[in-house]
Amino acid sequence: MTLAEIATRRLVIVDDEPVILDLLASVFLNEPLEVSCFRDGHSALAHMRAAGVDVLLTDKNLPDIGGLELVRHARAITADSEALVITGYASLDTALTAMELGVFDYIVKPPRDIFDVKRKVLQAFEKQGLARENRRLLGDLRAKNEELESTLEDLRAMQAELIQAEKLAGIGTLASGIAHEISSPLFGVMGLAEAIQEEDDVALVRSYAADIVEYSRNIKDIVVELSGYSRAAENEYLTTVDLGRVVEDAIRLVTRSAPVDGVSIETDLPGGLFVHARTNEVQQVFVNLVKNAVEAVQEHRTDGRVKVSIGQTDNHVWARVEDNGPGIPAEKQAVIFDPFYTTKPPGKGTGLGLNIVYRIITKYRGTIVVEAGASDGARFLLRFPVD
Ligand SMILES: Nc1ncnc2c1ncn2[C@@H]1O[C@H](COP(=O)(O)OP(=O)(O)OP(=O)(O)O)[C@@H](O)[C@H]1O
Ligand SMILES: [Mg+2]
Repeated sequence: MTLAEIATRRLVIVDDEPVILDLLASVFLNEPLEVSCFRDGHSALAHMRAAGVDVLLTDKNLPDIGGLELVRHARAITADSEALVITGYASLDTALTAMELGVFDYIVKPPRDIFDVKRKVLQAFEKQGLARENRRLLGDLRAKNEELESTLEDLRAMQAELIQAEKLAGIGTLASGIAHEISSPLFGVMGLAEAIQEEDDVALVRSYAADIVEYSRNIKDIVVELSGYSRAAENEYLTTVDLGRVVEDAIRLVTRSAPVDGVSIETDLPGGLFVHARTNEVQQVFVNLVKNAVEAVQEHRTDGRVKVSIGQTDNHVWARVEDNGPGIPAEKQAVIFDPFYTTKPPGKGTGLGLNIVYRIITKYRGTIVVEAGASDGARFLLRFPVD
């Protein structure tokens, strides 16, 4: 407590007997209190209204306002004020009312030990000080809590933004691969169209046109794949997703976007396996897993292998993405799904890939676990419930 606060501790003493009033006031002479004495309720009330009160020490029987009534007023003026009541005789009734009012203590008159009264008054101040300190701490805590909550909200928003940015950055990398992929059918279309301009043989023109349709279809497929990847998930309806097809598309997206030389990608994708989800989200899952696997084996060895298999048991469709890279040490397996966990150099990985995977899988009530020993690479096992 600061000096200023101590100086403003206000004690109001009310007793209609001047001798007792003087006696009570005298024991507080050397205390750092602002003591005000009154012989009747009205003047005490007027003073409290004007100057406030922290502890009220009052006779119960006053000529005008009753002591307990005065306690009520004091409470109304300063909500956390404390009160001590002095009474000539204690009836059960007064005791009950006093309790109800939460009176700090009850002193029988004439006080036998005036210093005992003093001790009680000082205790009342102490109680009030503690209550105020508690409230202040609680207020601080609330403010801190609110601050933390708003920081958390900011972080969430930032994370959402980063996830979107990560998707867009991914598209950037994909784009160069896709430009390359599109350029060959496009050259074909241009060449054939030029040839048609100078060709008179109708049969030949027809066959060129058929080739143009075929090349254009290739281009369209590539564009459709890309737009499926970049579309915001919410805009797509839940459908029955052909898992094998989506995995194939995902692998194609990965191999197109970055060189995968020296890495062989095997698949075991039986048809007829379906999950109920959004196509582009399932695609994102496998793009991330396959990309991670390729990156892991490329760093690690020259005879890299990545294998994706899918299958079905009674109550779920499963998928497995495995590689013969360095694997994931047991103590890291819990953190790889955390946002921003990455072992890749700055600028290469954001550490969001597996977090996105995890969030998509769990959204569809699926599970993903990693099985990875140090020697035989990493293996991710996914399960989707079958409705
Ligand atoms: N197949 C794997 N083999 C070994 N380690 C892996 C494999 N997959 C993921 N990891 C580890 O988990 C980390 C987190 O992967 P995650 O996909 O979340 O982020 P990232 O690949 O580092 O970055 P980003 O996906 O944004 O490019 C990786 O940095 C890597 O250390
Ligand atoms: Mg990744």
